[in-house]
Amino acid sequence: MRTIDWNDASDSIVMIDQTLLPVEYKVIECNTLSSLCEAIRSLRIRGAPALGAAGAFGIALAASLSSAGNMDDLMRDLNVAANTIKATRPTAVNLAWGVDRVIDATADAYDVEGIRDIVLSEARRIADEDVATNKMIGKHGAKLLKDGDTVMTYCNAGRMACVDWGTALGVVRSAVGSGKRINVIACETRPLNQGSRITAWELMQDKIPVTLITDSMAGHVMRKGMVDKIIVGADRITGDAVFNKIGTYTLSVLAKEHEIPFYIAAPVSTFDFEGWEETVTIELRDEDELRFCRGVQTAPMDVKVYNPAFDATPMENISGIITEKGVFYPPFLLDEVLM
Ligand code: MRU
Repeated sequence: MRTIDWNDASDSIVMIDQTLLPVEYKVIECNTLSSLCEAIRSLRIRGAPALGAAGAFGIALAASLSSAGNMDDLMRDLNVAANTIKATRPTAVNLAWGVDRVIDATADAYDVEGIRDIVLSEARRIADEDVATNKMIGKHGAKLLKDGDTVMTYCNAGRMACVDWGTALGVVRSAVGSGKRINVIACETRPLNQGSRITAWELMQDKIPVTLITDSMAGHVMRKGMVDKIIVGADRITGDAVFNKIGTYTLSVLAKEHEIPFYIAAPVSTFDFEGWEETVTIELRDEDELRFCRGVQTAPMDVKVYNPAFDATPMENISGIITEKGVFYPPFLLDEVLM
């Protein structure tokens, strides 16, 4: 199934609970706004494009739960839901993008039922478009890979981070689909291990060769000449930086030192055309994510902790940005992406 979808039978959102992977594959249902917000905050659903779909379906859920009998009351309920959903995670621009796109689509409605129909069909369109967009990213990105290449990736920018197919892993999938032999090195991605739990699992499901390393091994394997290209996803792309999972910046610096091409794969919906590095809020997550690993205490309980979920990679460290519109190269003029 898709990572996230709408269930007509129960008027609810269904998703794969990513916190349980790879030990358990479980599909859960969110039939209240609070259960959706909990799922987003706890990363049951995660990854920028998947969050875009979660935000969009969240508005459809709010519309189906609302008992409002007139358009003004329903729109008030939807706007409250929109603000609640957007407040769950601040960094990935896609979450707010998905919410706003569905809210904006209601401008065409002329009655309450019209609003309910429009929000659900717009959310479904966003989910469908995400799959098509990722296939285009894959098509453009696959041309950058040679037969026999080893690609390093970070976090999970695969089908689990999207509705399907993936961005960075979508590029790998498309290259493999066109007959190229590609090996992947997946970094573990501490503290929540999206790389070891989700990327390694996803690639093994598709029988794409993958080798797992700890994040601290990245420099060593680059220095040993074991990496041909690095491809990662993005949560937000501003005029001067790419925000992605904490540790991405470190990889970009290592890539520069070892002259390894460092690519970002992301849909246009991840661009924040008005944003700059200093305007972006980096999510700070619970300190216990560092004091415990899968429920086991790994640090003194009272140790001071700093736990930012994302970092910013300056544009000068990036070789190319792979989007559904094609590959953009330095100096990365955002106007070109808009055209
Ligand atoms: O905290 P997460 O797991 O939501 O972080 C996800 C990432 O950093 C991904 O690399 C990014 O969203 C791109 S997904 C195509």
